[in-house]
Amino acid sequence: MEIIKTKNNDELSAKAAEIIADKVKSMDKPVLGLATGSTPVVTYEKLIEKVKAEEVSFKNVKTFNLDEYIGLSGEHENSYRYFMNDILFNHIDIDLKNTYIPNGLAEDAAEECAAYEALIKAEGPIDLQILGLGLNGHIAFNEPGSSFEGRTQETKLTASTIEANARFFDSMDEVPTTAVTMGIGTILEAKEILLLVQGEAKAEILKEVLNGPVTEDVPGSILQKHPNVTVITDIEL
Ligand code: F6R
Repeated sequence: MEIIKTKNNDELSAKAAEIIADKVKSMDKPVLGLATGSTPVVTYEKLIEKVKAEEVSFKNVKTFNLDEYIGLSGEHENSYRYFMNDILFNHIDIDLKNTYIPNGLAEDAAEECAAYEALIKAEGPIDLQILGLGLNGHIAFNEPGSSFEGRTQETKLTASTIEANARFFDSMDEVPTTAVTMGIGTILEAKEILLLVQGEAKAEILKEVLNGPVTEDVPGSILQKHPNVTVITDIEL
């Protein structure tokens, strides 16, 4: 595991954008795994700048997002589809048809999960997977206790995750309590993983992820076993 320590979020994001752009430039048909949440926002801004400066093109890129809330349509401003279009896809030269995110309104969530998993198999493997880290150690929406072998599945969000997500909604009642998430087994099949961890609030959990026992109680700890992980963080370790 390589750990890159940065001074602040701007430097973290610049480094992350550079690694992503270099991966895209190095391949004919790159497949990226993308995350939502606050952490990658500035990274995506920096990628947009690179596309506008014609340093990199996303014309041949396919993307798979980690997760989507169940019950929100892609037009809902808190859905992850809306977020990704708004914050990245609408500003770069990617074909929206090549951007995959689970459908939060699928009638049958189990069927949607199986279809998403099959799509990753067909188009993958994912060359570079971007991950954030939850305050409770979750990766994607694999909450503590999730199986390391899990595939794309419906999951119940924990109270702490619902509380953390509430900042984007008008009231607690509106925060979705279930989501479709890539499983940890699915995530581990990515050839390379880039974990971005920003802000002192995550210092303790990051230490557990990096140096603690590998346990399903701390989902991110499984990254210790993946052969190609880079962690970029502005946290003093
Ligand atoms: C987002 C995701 C989550 C977030 C994590 C950290 O697609 O899968 O695991 O990466 O909750 O969120 P932020 O970056 O908002 O602290």
